[in-house]
Amino acid sequence: MISIKSEREIELLRIAGSIVGETHNYLKQYLKPGITTKEIDELARDFIISKGATPSCYHYEGYPANICISVNDEVVHGIASKRKLKDGDIVTLDICACYKGYHGDSAWTYAVGNISDEKKYLMEHTEKALFEGLSVIKNGIHVGDIGYAVEQYALAHHLGVVKELVGHGVGNQLHEDPEVPNYGHKGTGPLLKSGMVIAVEPMLNLGTADVYLLDDDWTVVTADGEPSAHFEHTILITDDGYEILTKR
Ligand code: MF3
Ligand code: CO
Repeated sequence: MISIKSEREIELLRIAGSIVGETHNYLKQYLKPGITTKEIDELARDFIISKGATPSCYHYEGYPANICISVNDEVVHGIASKRKLKDGDIVTLDICACYKGYHGDSAWTYAVGNISDEKKYLMEHTEKALFEGLSVIKNGIHVGDIGYAVEQYALAHHLGVVKELVGHGVGNQLHEDPEVPNYGHKGTGPLLKSGMVIAVEPMLNLGTADVYLLDDDWTVVTADGEPSAHFEHTILITDDGYEILTKR
């Protein structure tokens, strides 16, 4: 079932989303060569807590860190460690915060120092794929309309579309119905209505779409070792469009 949020719930989702956006803004300045992913994770935790929220990922299904930090060929759910960021890396921060029982969820990929033109291309077009997907959203569309828009854009730019991981509804649970794949056909899938809240999150690869799970049971990496990017916003569907809840 896809829930329609009440005004009160939407207000809490706006606050949770804005805390996530602020956390991104805050962490950006630290993404320099030499910082460890563990240090970034702790900065995120302390910032989220200072805003009266909690990191939703912490202990979610046993997840052992506060946010997800994925470097280069890591697609999602990278776990903070002693690993140091290096010049030329790209790093995705996937940040979820819970405020008074309601969640916000947003991922963004950042450059560390000077990155290759290929990585710039991947980041630019993955961000654009997110906004292509968002551009079709309004009351009365189908989930497949979003996936279609994202996939067509990605394919036109020769990027691999990760299929194993999908966007999702957001509310008093981090992951709610519906699933929001980054592929699909127009006019298919669940109907979306004003008052629903979803996370749209293309994960695109510079190489093939294939991914696999590391032995840590969390980190998903590309099969060919090529880099991957991930851009995600939590949005509220409105009568004639959408409102980004995880604004920067
Ligand atoms: N934004 C991530 C997702 O939607 C949140 C994962 S929390 C984790 O998959 F605990 F599973 F890492
Ligand atoms: Co998500």
